[in-house]
Amino acid sequence: MNHQEKPPEENLTKLMEFVLLGFTDVPHLQWFLFGLFLVIYIIILISNGIIFLITKLDPALQTPMYYFISNFSFLEICYASVTLPRMLINLWTQKRTISFIACATQMCCVLVLAATECFLLAVMAYDRYVAICNPLHYPLIMKHKMCIQLVAGSWISGIPVQIGQTFQIFSLPFCGSNLINHFFCDIPPILKLACGDTFVNEMMVSTVAVLFVTVPFLLILVSYGKLISTILKLSSATSRTRAFSTCSSHLMVVVLFFGSGMITYLRPRTSHSAGTDKVLSLFYTIVTPMINPMIYSLRNKDVVRALRKLLCK
Ligand SMILES: *[C@@H]1O[C@H](CO)[C@@H](O)[C@H](O)[C@H]1NC(C)=O
Repeated sequence: MNHQEKPPEENLTKLMEFVLLGFTDVPHLQWFLFGLFLVIYIIILISNGIIFLITKLDPALQTPMYYFISNFSFLEICYASVTLPRMLINLWTQKRTISFIACATQMCCVLVLAATECFLLAVMAYDRYVAICNPLHYPLIMKHKMCIQLVAGSWISGIPVQIGQTFQIFSLPFCGSNLINHFFCDIPPILKLACGDTFVNEMMVSTVAVLFVTVPFLLILVSYGKLISTILKLSSATSRTRAFSTCSSHLMVVVLFFGSGMITYLRPRTSHSAGTDKVLSLFYTIVTPMINPMIYSLRNKDVVRALRKLLCK
């Protein structure tokens, strides 16, 4: 909270550590924010943990769709655990320093897991598209091996690119301020601290954002577009309404996640303001892992039935 007490001349150790300012602009809300984020973290762990468990335990949920959902819940737990615990510790202790290497590691993990999330959401949309628009070929296309390949591909394909991107950003020279006006080590606030030319980095960030965020987003929109047009042709009005409400809630979280990500990573550096960046990144790091289990699974009849069965045992 008292970062102003550190004069910039003291930053001789600038290459050793950064300071994550987090929410220091609202000093009176520190305990409220701690409580809020703690509750959110617990919700994320419990809801995703339950879904992971029942999709593994219930024999009725051994289908490709639940295989993806199970891995997705696991991913959400990892993803939230990269940013939230550190944030909670910072709010609790009011000690905000983070070493250079920890900051780089955090950024790399966030980027890798965010890329996985983008790909996995696209895989899940494709799975629903094939299941509904092409039901006869579905068992032929979504064989177990194919599912494993799609999931493994989602996890692995982001890794080399994101490690390269992190390495490139952290090999920039950092001089002057070491105060990161953010609650985790995200690209825009770190690039802001770099001195020297960041043009190449910004190009790289935009290219990666287009490939990893915009392309999966468009694929999802196409899948859901076809899905919805198929659903509209369904004869029964009730199944039409049900399918439509499922699709629209999926689309809502998809737009929230990809929209906030695209605005953050595709905006030119000059138009970044710390306040907007913080709010936007809350959506793609914390809000989506919290609401995804409810939208994707807990609204689902089969999951609710499996949950009841588990609880009644
Ligand atoms: C999710 O998939 C990845 C890639 O195949 C795998 O490494 C990971 O263990 C899976 N997680 C779970 C919990 O099934």
